[in-house]
Amino acid sequence: MSEPSPVTTRREGDVALILVDNPPVNALSQAVRTGLLAQVSAAVADPSVHALVIACEGRTFIAGADIREFGKPPLAPGLNEVLAAMEGSTKPVVAAIHGTALGGGFEVALACHARIADPKASVGLPEVKLGIVPGAGGTQRAPRLAGPVAALEMMASGKPVKAIEAKAKGLLDAISGPDLRADAIALARELTEKPPRRTSQLIIPPYDQDEFEKAASSVLARARGQLSPVKVVEAVRLATRLSFEEGLKAERAIFAELVGSDQARALRYAFFAEREVQRVPHLHGVEPRRVDTVGVIGAGTMGAGIAVALLDAGLRVTVVETSTQAVGAGWDRIAGLYARAMKSGRLDESGKDERLSRLTVTEDFGDLAGMDLVIEAAFEDMAVKKDIFARLGTTARHGAVLATNTSYLDVNEIAEASGRPADVIGLHFFSPANIMRLVEVVEGAASAKEAVATGVALAKRLGKLPVTCGVCDGFVGNRILAAWRQVTDFALEDGALPQEVDAALESYGMAMGPFAVADLAGLDIGWARRKRLAATRDPRGRYGGTVADRLCAQGRFGQKTGMGYYRYENGKRQVDPEVSDLVENVSTELRRKREPFDADRLVRRVRAAMVNEGAKILREGIVARALDIDMVLLHGYGFPAWRGGPMFEADAIGLPAVLADVRDLHQAYGAGWEPAPLLVELAENGGSFAAHGRPAA
Ligand code: 3HC
Repeated sequence: MSEPSPVTTRREGDVALILVDNPPVNALSQAVRTGLLAQVSAAVADPSVHALVIACEGRTFIAGADIREFGKPPLAPGLNEVLAAMEGSTKPVVAAIHGTALGGGFEVALACHARIADPKASVGLPEVKLGIVPGAGGTQRAPRLAGPVAALEMMASGKPVKAIEAKAKGLLDAISGPDLRADAIALARELTEKPPRRTSQLIIPPYDQDEFEKAASSVLARARGQLSPVKVVEAVRLATRLSFEEGLKAERAIFAELVGSDQARALRYAFFAEREVQRVPHLHGVEPRRVDTVGVIGAGTMGAGIAVALLDAGLRVTVVETSTQAVGAGWDRIAGLYARAMKSGRLDESGKDERLSRLTVTEDFGDLAGMDLVIEAAFEDMAVKKDIFARLGTTARHGAVLATNTSYLDVNEIAEASGRPADVIGLHFFSPANIMRLVEVVEGAASAKEAVATGVALAKRLGKLPVTCGVCDGFVGNRILAAWRQVTDFALEDGALPQEVDAALESYGMAMGPFAVADLAGLDIGWARRKRLAATRDPRGRYGGTVADRLCAQGRFGQKTGMGYYRYENGKRQVDPEVSDLVENVSTELRRKREPFDADRLVRRVRAAMVNEGAKILREGIVARALDIDMVLLHGYGFPAWRGGPMFEADAIGLPAVLADVRDLHQAYGAGWEPAPLLVELAENGGSFAAHGRPAA
């Protein structure tokens, strides 16, 4: 017997209510396309039907094409065929939108004769984030409704917009009351009086050509190697010049070119990996502990950001500081973050007041006694942390989870100090903690599975992306960062200048070059760390920190002092000839021959260092899967999503080629840079990181 169709029709008098029911997000699978075409055609042919409403069951309107079908041979009917039937209907067709109408889902709505949405709904064309452009008329219909500038902004950012805003832009016709379907049916009946308003037949509304060119240039400037935003500009430009039919044909060609590209493949991988990373195999079925109240120790930059993330998620938060003055400063810092959110329109007065009503900032460590979970965000020093955890061990209630936000220190040693290591985990947030999505959930040798699952659940509740990993110096992200940053530091000594390295890695797609990032974060932190580790450094290994040390000795701590690797004027980075001299002097002093800078080689070396360290992390079992590493790099370190992540990219390039690059590193830098055994093994046996550690299919 054949499967029941996910699309059905219910009669509401003279209106055909066509319902899509394809959980979880009503993606436009082949069965949905077939069902829609059949139900629309039947309703159009039925003389007793005067109007059609397209609506969805479940939590959302159609959230797009079925991404799992991409990269495979196309299956009929194509979405454009379905939409042509819908738009061509002589009876009015109305889209009733709740939840999110995204991508192909919003394109379905755009092909209807009118769109009505629940006030909480949002709509968007996020295809660019999957490395493609809208492929079912979105690039041609959206500009006809909203004008090319607004349509371009929506498609180039991929960000959904709220119903009210979408209506203001002309993308929606009405916002419903509490009963969306009833209102949609009423609207459909009203429209039977008028000829159908077909989006494809509208002319592009008048617009300011200069404004369009400005928006287009800004999209191109931000693309940094990513193809899909560039192609969105091209497709919207064509909408302003061609007939709808010609524009649609051109859109199809662009879509077909992009959907099979390496970038689209990488972005699809990133989409699914982002979801899979949250399913930690060894925590399957483990119940997290209940968390309603959270303590935060320390109200510095990190602690304040963490407190805001917790308050935003509706939790009650108690922040502990060490003096009356620090308590006041802590409160001000948190309130300051909210003031900024209000200024940018992300929060209103009552939202701020409600959040602050759930916050206590205190000097009394004993106030942590009732907390369900405590996050220590104190100074990064082992003695300080051990002291705190020893006190927490006796203060916190039985069963409370005790988390450290350390970025490098040994979580096992901290856990031992508490006297109850089963309750201890790491929760490594990234700065600014109220904004950055990544959280490394660190599982200590003695951590109870429930404690780790609690950390994962809390991070999800904060809207963050938890990646679970084991204990090692720097965990996943900072450990890999330390490896490749050495390559960039060595590059300065061997002939490069900071701006050349940054430019090379920014054109590789990184959000910001490493020296610009160092200036943003502050050079003093690394300086203190290098001084602390100086005594234990292996004198035979190459150092690499001389340039940074010299900058710090001159008080050049980065943006906060107006000078670091660059000079800052009105917040803009400028190349500083003094830094170029300093770098050249360091090379002379270290007797290193300065070679002409080779951007391609630098990029290959940086990637090789990342992948080699990643291979060690995998072999040591610090993470279970290569995708864990990729997600850390994408969500915490500005690695270009359209490359998928270093491990994905290594598989795509071919591991023998990456191994050759690692051998080049080894030859250049000597001991400590040997190829990781796992990389050698996989490269020699035709294996891949993606398949490593997974059961054979
Ligand atoms: N195709 C296939 N599977 C999809 C999907 C899609 N378009 N969208 C979501 N899913 C799957 C997810 O992989 C996940 O599966 P899992 O449970 O096995 O991990 C499940 O649906 C639920 O998704 P989320 O966990 O993301 O659920 P949320 O409630 O957090 O988010 C959402 C819902 C906002 C709709 C989010 O899933 C989303 O952003 N989806 C992608 C939307 C999108 O990019 N649409 C455009 C697709 S391309 C297109 O339409 C081309 C067209 O122009 C021709």
